Amino acid sequence: MTLIPELTILQPADKEQVDLPRTSEEEPAVGKKRLYIESYGCQMNFADSEIVASVMRNAGFATTSSAEDADLIFLNTCAIRENAEQKVRHRLKHLTGLKRQKPELLVGMLGCMAERLKTKLLEEEKVVDIVAGPDAYRDIPKLVEEAESGQKAVNVFLSREETYADISPIRLNSNGVTAFVSIMRGCDNMCSFCVVPFTRGRERSRDPHSIVREARDLFEQGYREVTLLGQNVDSYKWQSTDTVEITTFANLLEMVALIHPDLRVRFSTSHPKDITDDVLYTMAKYDNICKYIHLPAQSGNSRVLKLMNRTYDRPWYISKIDRIREILGENCGISTDMISGFCTETEEEHLESLSLMDYVHYDYAYMFAYSERPGTLAAKKYQDDIPEDVKKRRLNEIIARQLEHSSARNQRHVGQVQRVLIEGTSKRSEDFLCGRNDQNKMVVFPKGNWQKGQYVNVLVTECTSATLLGEVVSH
Ligand code: SAH
Ligand code: SF4
Ligand code: F3S
Repeated sequence: MTLIPELTILQPADKEQVDLPRTSEEEPAVGKKRLYIESYGCQMNFADSEIVASVMRNAGFATTSSAEDADLIFLNTCAIRENAEQKVRHRLKHLTGLKRQKPELLVGMLGCMAERLKTKLLEEEKVVDIVAGPDAYRDIPKLVEEAESGQKAVNVFLSREETYADISPIRLNSNGVTAFVSIMRGCDNMCSFCVVPFTRGRERSRDPHSIVREARDLFEQGYREVTLLGQNVDSYKWQSTDTVEITTFANLLEMVALIHPDLRVRFSTSHPKDITDDVLYTMAKYDNICKYIHLPAQSGNSRVLKLMNRTYDRPWYISKIDRIREILGENCGISTDMISGFCTETEEEHLESLSLMDYVHYDYAYMFAYSERPGTLAAKKYQDDIPEDVKKRRLNEIIARQLEHSSARNQRHVGQVQRVLIEGTSKRSEDFLCGRNDQNKMVVFPKGNWQKGQYVNVLVTECTSATLLGEVVSH
């Protein structure tokens, strides 16, 4: 197998890879202008594009799946690693060609790269007409009007309050079964390697009633799974102005789980410093809260974790894993993010990342070579001193170790019956359906007369490192 140095692997086969852009879909467009949106980066960015599509629909735009047909093109960008930005720059070259053929075409940059570079983007990339940061999406129709009158338009103001709570997202690329629901925005953590606090601003939580309403509407439309999204969901906290009561993440999870037993609830991302026993007990209490936790470690060495400003050390992280296993059992899926070659990381410290992986036996992992981001604490304070080839070699070791663990963890399911929510036809064959089990693993099985949106019990007969294969035994 070739190991690609910078990638997201070992997740269920049909899951959208974080580094593949997603594009908007065709809507009826009679008498309307056409908008094409391409989204990069994390699930929060994809969820934001659905907010943008909604704002733009009210301003008379219909989405299209073809950039060539569009009057307006938005790239919703990511800034997390250098290559995420390079990908977008490359895409802008293509759009420059498109604009040459169609001079009235407008190009807008949204999201984290737009926020990071601000007006610099307009100087560096002549094709760009509009720059809008993550908290400026209500203002986009005005920015488009300005651009239509021939001016460059920018709004990169970061808000302390904006949560877009009242905007009903338009689901893009939806399978009609699973959906993302943003529960908070921004991040206050200041991990030293990370650009997110600078691109998404201060952490703020969304009114729980608007979250429950959105999830209930989804259920009524036939959706059967919601994933609650935030950079650090465990620090979710809401206090309304008229009561002293505080809604914590555990409370919110319970409120969403109570909507209907057939609505599955997932969430991402958990921070090891903040995940509480309350959350774990709430997960244990409700069958429809999926037993799967994404708990990024980043490193297995306490000194490196300190430099990363993660505010926990190796023993703390291990104690959280032990707690998850105690309260939710061995079957609870756990995944991580790992960074190789952070500033000053020694060979022994790298080996501690591998030994942490051996301890936990993660089901999946998202693994990256450290990429210095301008303006972050690490860029200011530490030298990016690990040579690229060493970072890549360490990353490949991490990936190889994870492959072993993913295979072993999947192997455990062989012979077990798994409850699966059907998401659609398998990508490999029309005769097979696919869906996820509780632990977020993709399960593929012969179609029979089953339909997407139904739950089935599947006896797992085989597995690969990414997928479980089986047959339906009951309903
Ligand atoms: N809020 C989440 C992660 C958001 S970013 C959390 O706290 O875990 C997703 C992942 O990208 C991070 O977990 C980290 O592993 C990776 N990442 C962030 N900045 C990076 C950088 N400068 N270089 C390499 N990987 C990075
Ligand atoms: Fe970045 Fe850390 Fe916030 Fe995650 S918790 S978004 S890694 S600063
Ligand atoms: Fe990228 Fe911004 Fe998400 S930097 S990972 S799109 S929060």
